[in-house]
Amino acid sequence: MDIVLATRNKKKVEEMSRILGGMDINILTLDDFPSCPEVEEDANTFEGNAVKKALAITKCTNKIAVADDSGLEVYALNGAPGVMSARYAGEGADDVANIGKLLSEMKDIPDEQRGARFVCCIALAYPNGKTETFFGFAEGRIGREPRGRMGFGYDPVFYPAGYEVTFAEMSPEEKDALSHRGNALEGFKKYMKAHYSEYKEI
Ligand code: IMP
Repeated sequence: MDIVLATRNKKKVEEMSRILGGMDINILTLDDFPSCPEVEEDANTFEGNAVKKALAITKCTNKIAVADDSGLEVYALNGAPGVMSARYAGEGADDVANIGKLLSEMKDIPDEQRGARFVCCIALAYPNGKTETFFGFAEGRIGREPRGRMGFGYDPVFYPAGYEVTFAEMSPEEKDALSHRGNALEGFKKYMKAHYSEYKEI
């Protein structure tokens, strides 16, 4: 069975493929469907964006589509950067700029108030328009300077709860076991196993 991942982000494809590795699923990406349109992430929730992307891609490919939307919520910043995580420092901002803005916004926030969580919503859309969503969370705190070179995004400043190292200092396998995307994908995987008879014909 084919599933199209609604992303061109290579790190996300690697991470998702690794987690879905044990299943009888042929993973395709948007690079296999160059004519599919870019979908604008203009919803104000992670779920809204994930469902919008998955529906657009199943419509364009006629295959089951999986999209995710994820980001970082800092409690002391009332949930920012939230759905703006990828472009917190402006449209087209890179990870270094986004982290720079976050650390500067948080410079006066004391250590005990630097709690944050990563959120991931995965949406599955079938060609008939049916959708399912799966959520995952990773609780932790924001450090004061970037540490580590693994991962992507805000990983160098995110310390998962109970750890003294950032996500960027962990191996991919260690991060998968704790991450919001790992948690959401576990729910997705359980669902796929339980509903095999529905999707194997598609
Ligand atoms: P999107 O899900 O592609 O819209 O990306 C959301 C943004 O949230 C990314 O560009 C990162 O800045 C951030 N983000 C999401 N997941 C992670 C993660 O696992 N580590 C670090 N940053 C993340």
